[in-house]
Amino acid sequence: MSSQTETIRRVTVPQLRARKGADPIVSLTAYHAHTAAIAEKYCDFLLVGDSLGMVMHGMESTVGVSLELMIMHGKAVVRGTKRALVVVDMPFGTYEESPSQAFRNAAKIMKETQCQAVKLEGGARMAETIKFLTERGIPVMAHIGLTPQSTNIMGGFKTQGRDEDEWQFHIDDAVAVAEAGAFAVVVEGVVEPLAEKITQAITVPTIGIGASKTCDGQILVMEDMLGLNDWVPKFVKKFGAVGEAIEDAIASYAEDVKSRAFPTQDNVYGSKK
Ligand code: KIV
Repeated sequence: MSSQTETIRRVTVPQLRARKGADPIVSLTAYHAHTAAIAEKYCDFLLVGDSLGMVMHGMESTVGVSLELMIMHGKAVVRGTKRALVVVDMPFGTYEESPSQAFRNAAKIMKETQCQAVKLEGGARMAETIKFLTERGIPVMAHIGLTPQSTNIMGGFKTQGRDEDEWQFHIDDAVAVAEAGAFAVVVEGVVEPLAEKITQAITVPTIGIGASKTCDGQILVMEDMLGLNDWVPKFVKKFGAVGEAIEDAIASYAEDVKSRAFPTQDNVYGSKK
């Protein structure tokens, strides 16, 4: 007997990897169950990014984000979704020390959140770790170019590759992480011709953020593209004005409470007669 209910399957790591050079991969960050449920209708994968430290928790950088925080938000996003591949960021200090430290913490993230992959920052210097994880069953998305966890070394959030002499360093990073087994590479904050060269140099998809349309896919921080913040970086396009919509709704609520226009008879419970 055939069932009427269609099984919804999540996008898999091999499916995402196979999208190299095909139609653009769509992705966003997600930190909560309800927004993730909306976003997955349109996105191939959702990233529980450590940007949540700045966006959700008011931190000045991603350096202070803990494993526990990533796991808490990762669980929410996995619970809220059925179809999108969910990738959870490894926070600063949980993977750089050694491949075994990275394995222990990546396995904890995957076991506790039930996500399908982890992301970590760094190029050639992380290749050994990426190989170690992928050989042991943990799919890894790499992240090169502007790597926000290294902002203290870089001296801020600085666009990479403005000087052509830097290009080979970033191309070598991309090749190293792809050869080590990364199934996709986030390329952040690099000049357009460098992004194009990186995309051509590797056989797995590049996911750009501030890295031009030459990448195989795009990612943005959801709150930025929704227009929740007044200021956004140049590479962000605001696709909504959600901050204004929230403020209008809260202002109307406050006005109605003060004038006793809310609650109305529609919003109150009566007793049994
Ligand atoms: O943490 C994050 O949101 C990210 C994206 C900017 C790619 O790493």
